[in-house]
Amino acid sequence: MAQLWGGRFTKATDRQVYEFNASINFDKRLYKQDIRGSIAHVRMLSKQGILTAREEELLLSGLMQIENDIEHETIRITPEYEDIHSFVEAVLTQRIGEAGKKLHTGRSRNDQVALDMRLYIRDEIIAVDSLLRTLLDVILQIMKENVHTYMPGFTHLQKAQPVTLAHHMGAYFEMFRRDRERLADAARRMNYCPLGSGALAGTTYPLDRAYTASLLGFYAPTRNSMDSVSDRDYLIEFLSDLSMIMMHLSRSCEEIITWNTNEYRFVEIDDSYSTGSSIMPQKKNPDIAELVRGKTGRVYGALMQLLTVMKSLPLAYNKDMQEDKEMAFDAVDTVRSCLVLYTGMLSTMGFRKDVMEASAKNGFTNATDAADYLVNRGVPFRDAHSIVGRLVLTCIEKDCSLDELTLEELRRESPVFGEDIYEAISMKTCVEKRNTAGAPGPVAMEDEIRQAQEYLDRGGISL
Ligand code: ARG
Repeated sequence: MAQLWGGRFTKATDRQVYEFNASINFDKRLYKQDIRGSIAHVRMLSKQGILTAREEELLLSGLMQIENDIEHETIRITPEYEDIHSFVEAVLTQRIGEAGKKLHTGRSRNDQVALDMRLYIRDEIIAVDSLLRTLLDVILQIMKENVHTYMPGFTHLQKAQPVTLAHHMGAYFEMFRRDRERLADAARRMNYCPLGSGALAGTTYPLDRAYTASLLGFYAPTRNSMDSVSDRDYLIEFLSDLSMIMMHLSRSCEEIITWNTNEYRFVEIDDSYSTGSSIMPQKKNPDIAELVRGKTGRVYGALMQLLTVMKSLPLAYNKDMQEDKEMAFDAVDTVRSCLVLYTGMLSTMGFRKDVMEASAKNGFTNATDAADYLVNRGVPFRDAHSIVGRLVLTCIEKDCSLDELTLEELRRESPVFGEDIYEAISMKTCVEKRNTAGAPGPVAMEDEIRQAQEYLDRGGISL
């Protein structure tokens, strides 16, 4: 048990208390951020004359050496230290002696851990954003290749109107684009440095907080020191953004699972992204899509957990906040692996265009267009709706589609129908004439695609 405190204690910590309290097993993941923060702190202390140049030199080379050794596994982070902060300071002091003991001047673990987490989350935001960007590239590619691939659009999971695969994928493009915007927004709001807030009330040392903030790439220091050590809003925002990403992935996976069934056969998941059954030799299962859908629960869980931890916490730092880490780490690992796997599955997936198109042709997806045809010839919409409704009934009885009815049969319901009805309700017309902004028609879609490409060319988050 190696602790940074103990002066005022007369008894050693109970073993179980020590283990319950320690965070090293999970906060060791923050070693890079912790060292980076310490380096900035040391440089600032020296600039302010709180450390000598010699002390600065010893501390900086010691810290860099520790980072290097952890990276190359020449030292191991072991559980006899309470947390990563204690570990780094203890090893440093063992190595460089007295100067090591000055590292923590004008600092508390409260502002230190607040900084480490921010640095970590800031890097993760950028990593998740870049995975989303790769995914959007894949989606846009599918869109470009499928401007004329007809498929049924659904409402209530019932065939509604024909759309294109480009249009359907374009909906996901928008969802993931918004996810990126949310991340960029969260990154901007959190990009302030809490270091120098001390335990809760700042410090009497003449720290230059703006200098530390700039060394670490933050816009500026955070303001109120009590808020700075106890604010986890940015983490809740991030978990909320991750939850939304998972919700979008999950919606798409649900569709892919359905489209991959024997009943739909819209898609064929590549063998390399499918799994088999130990008993049923014929099976090829969409496990990856199911797992991504299933893992959504873990990420929502992390969000709910942290909201609950923070609820009712009095100012300022409370040890409850140590619980901000494990599930947040799990959530971000989960989202990153889901994005990688989902992107791989999507980019290797085959689309059965003929099956999609055939499916769009039945199910009366052109019924609205038949009604619109009548409206364009002076029939009030409500009457047109009812005329086409009766025609649909006829089709159901005869087991055929609207365009398979003869002109005579159509005219039995309305004399307004002419020979040109067949062209008006053809799949091609139904889709290709829908060119209002955001619609599936090729004129509208090419415009969407062009703008989407421009958006992707603009690059990622810059802070
Ligand atoms: N392990 C702690 C955490 O993650 C670090 C801060 C500890 N501060 C303290 N006063 N005990 O929140």
